Amino acid sequence: MSDRTGIFAGDDPFVIARRWLAEAEDSEINDPNAIALSTVDTDGLPNVRMVLLKEIEDDAFVFYTNYGSTKAQEIETAGKAAFVMHWKSLRRQLRVRGTVTREDGPQADDYYASRSLKSRLGAWASHQSQPLASRATLMAEVAKITATHGPSPKRPPFWGGYRISPVEIEFWADGAFRLHDRFVWRRVTPRDGWYITRLSP
Ligand SMILES: Cc1cc2nc3c(=O)[nH]c(=O)nc-3n(C[C@H](O)[C@H](O)[C@H](O)COP(=O)(O)O)c2cc1C
Repeated sequence: MSDRTGIFAGDDPFVIARRWLAEAEDSEINDPNAIALSTVDTDGLPNVRMVLLKEIEDDAFVFYTNYGSTKAQEIETAGKAAFVMHWKSLRRQLRVRGTVTREDGPQADDYYASRSLKSRLGAWASHQSQPLASRATLMAEVAKITATHGPSPKRPPFWGGYRISPVEIEFWADGAFRLHDRFVWRRVTPRDGWYITRLSP
């Protein structure tokens, strides 16, 4: 019989992830949806940076970024990524590894349109991850974009979402005396069924 109860209850890892994030929204002081997104470059050297998780779908996780950025180049070359979320107030961790595809259709348009005008213009103005001469150069670019794109800019073709389809999702919760609880959902490909395993802390 499974001893997976309480905060780990249920067989659908996306439902559990949504439940944990909802709890973190109540308890974290800011950015409960921040993820440390990990990629690798062509030498196999890992890279990591924070981004905001915008959607937990029925079978995937979605975030948004610039398609010309370093992370985007690394994602497109490897086709894979991983992320971790740590909720300090809850003392919980969520880890995800999977394959990645672009979300650059109507869903990305809708999310872009939901952002503040300044953020929408900022997405146009920033050549993310490229060298920048000065802050003044960036602000001049923002002013130029504001003048040319007006009050309802379209989503830039170089900006959109990535959808991570997991092959591994691990839920971790702090336990007394470092005897933490860990449960991992694994599948060979995103089309397969899950195997759920308790792991030693
Ligand atoms: C809390 C937090 C949230 C962030 N959210 C995003 C985001 O959603 N998308 C994004 O492109 N960059 C985001 N950033 C900036 C990235 O960490 C990073 O600086 C940028 O995306 C460039 O990364 P790259 O050069 O590895 O592509 C965020 C940074 C922090 C600290």
